[in-house]
Amino acid sequence: MLCYYPFLYVIGVATLITYENDLKNGVFYPEALLYIYKKASFFAYYFLHSPLNVWQLACPKQERNSHPLWGRGLIFLFPMTLLGPFTELLTLQNLPMRGALQDEQIEIIPDAGVLYNADGIIMAVGKFLEMKKDALIQGYAIETITESLVLLPGLIDCHTHTCYAGNRAQDFAMRMAGKAYLAIAKAGGGIMHTVRATREASLETLKALTRTRLLRHKKEGITTCEIKSGYGLSFEAELKMLQVIADLQQEDTGIDLIPTCLAAHICPPEFENQKAYITHLITMLLPEVKKRNLSHRIDIFVEETAFDAENARYYLEEAQKMGFALTLHADQFHAFGSKLAVEMNAQSADHLENSTEEAIEYLAQSNTVAVALPGASIGVGDKFTPARKLLDAGAILAIATDLNPGSAPMGNLLLQASILAMYEKLSTAEVFAAITFRAAYALGLQDRGTIEVGKRADFVTFKTTDYKNILYQAATTEHIHGTWLKGVKTF
Ligand code: NIG
Ligand code: FE
Repeated sequence: MLCYYPFLYVIGVATLITYENDLKNGVFYPEALLYIYKKASFFAYYFLHSPLNVWQLACPKQERNSHPLWGRGLIFLFPMTLLGPFTELLTLQNLPMRGALQDEQIEIIPDAGVLYNADGIIMAVGKFLEMKKDALIQGYAIETITESLVLLPGLIDCHTHTCYAGNRAQDFAMRMAGKAYLAIAKAGGGIMHTVRATREASLETLKALTRTRLLRHKKEGITTCEIKSGYGLSFEAELKMLQVIADLQQEDTGIDLIPTCLAAHICPPEFENQKAYITHLITMLLPEVKKRNLSHRIDIFVEETAFDAENARYYLEEAQKMGFALTLHADQFHAFGSKLAVEMNAQSADHLENSTEEAIEYLAQSNTVAVALPGASIGVGDKFTPARKLLDAGAILAIATDLNPGSAPMGNLLLQASILAMYEKLSTAEVFAAITFRAAYALGLQDRGTIEVGKRADFVTFKTTDYKNILYQAATTEHIHGTWLKGVKTF
C-alpha cells in the first residue's frame, strides 16, 4: 500500500507545474484546489496505467487483485465511470480531416467499453470485459448496458437558426406552388416576416420556444448545436437573441450551445443602405457582443437580397480585427460568397448549392469547411450542395440542418444527411465524419467529435447491432436510445 505514495508525489509535482501559470494570474484559491484535483485525476490515471508504474510491474497480477485497498483507496481521489458493453463502438478516430472516406476506414470496436473521469473526459476506450477487470480492481463505477447498442460520438449540428418566433407556413405553401424564395423575400416576406415576430417576442417567450426545439434536437442525437441570431436585426433584438442562447447554455438542456452573431443576415429597412447598417454593427453591436461575451463568431449572408461582396468583405475584415471567427452563408443562389470565405480564412462556407467548379477548387485548397445544408435544398426545392465533388477535390465537408422557419423547417440531422448521401453518393464514413469531427472543426472545436482519450464523453447510442441501420432508419428517431453530454446521460 505504501507503494503509491511516490506516485502521488510525482502527480502532485506535475500538476503544480501545469498550474504555475494560473497561480501567476492570481486564480482564486478554491478553484485552484479543484483544478489541481482535476489535473491530478488525469495524470494519476495515466501514471498508474503506464509501464512506469513499477508497483504494477513488480506485483504479480493475482496479488494485485487481492489488494482491494489499492483500488478503493484511490477511488475517492480519482472517480471514473466505465460504460458498456456496446455491441459496436465507432471511434471515428485517426480519420483524415479532408477528402473522401471509405467505410472500411472506420475503427469499430465490438463489445466495447468507454471509461471517463468525473470531468466528462474520456480516459480509455477498448474491450469492455478487459476494462471491467481493471475497473473492479480500481473500484471505478461501472454502468452496465444490457441492450444491444451502437455508440457514436454525439452528433454536432454546426449551422442552425433554432432561436426564432413565428411561423412561415405561408411561404412554404407558396414555394411548393412555384413561387421562388428570393421573390418572396423581395416582396417583403421571407426573413423580414420572422424578424417582425422575433422582435415582438419577449426574452422569456423566445427562450421557451428555443428550449422546446432543443428538446427535439436532443432526441435526434445532437449533443452540440450551433445557434445563430439574425432575426433581430436591431441592437436590442440581436442582443436579446444572443442572451436567450446564453441563458439556455446555463440550463440543463443536454446540448452544448455555440452562439453565432448573424446580425448581418439582411439589411433591415430602418437603415438607408448596407454600408450604414454594417457600420452600425461594427461600431455598436459587435463591441457590445464582445463586452457581454455573447459570441465569438459572426456570420453574414452574401446574396443578392442580402449583402454584396464588397460590404461583406469590409464587415468580415473589421469583425476579424475584433477577434471574431468568421462563417458565411455563401453561394446559396448565386456563387459569390465562397471565394470571399476562403480569402478571409473563414471557419466555414455554408450552403454552396450553386457553387461553381472554380469555387469547389478554392474550397478544396483551403481550411474553410464546406457545410452542406440539405434541409435548405429540400425547403426551397433547389439542388443539393455538390458534396461528392467537394470531397473528391479534397475539401472538408460537414453537414448541418440549417433549421429555420423559412428555407429549412425540416430539422433532423440524420434524416437530412441520409437524403443528401443518397443523392450525392456519400459513404457512411463520409456522413458520420460530416456530422461529428468535421462539424466540430467547422466550429473551431478540437475537444469533441471522436471517441478517443482526452476528448469529451459526448455520445449518442442507437438500438441496433449494426451501424448501417443508423442512416437506413433515419426517418424515425425511435431507434435513438440516448445521448450523453460530458458523461452525463441526458435522456
Ligand atoms: O440559411 N439564407 C439565409 N438564411 C437562412 C434562411 C433564413 C430564412 O429564410 O428565414 C438560410 O437558409
Ligand atoms: Fe442558415
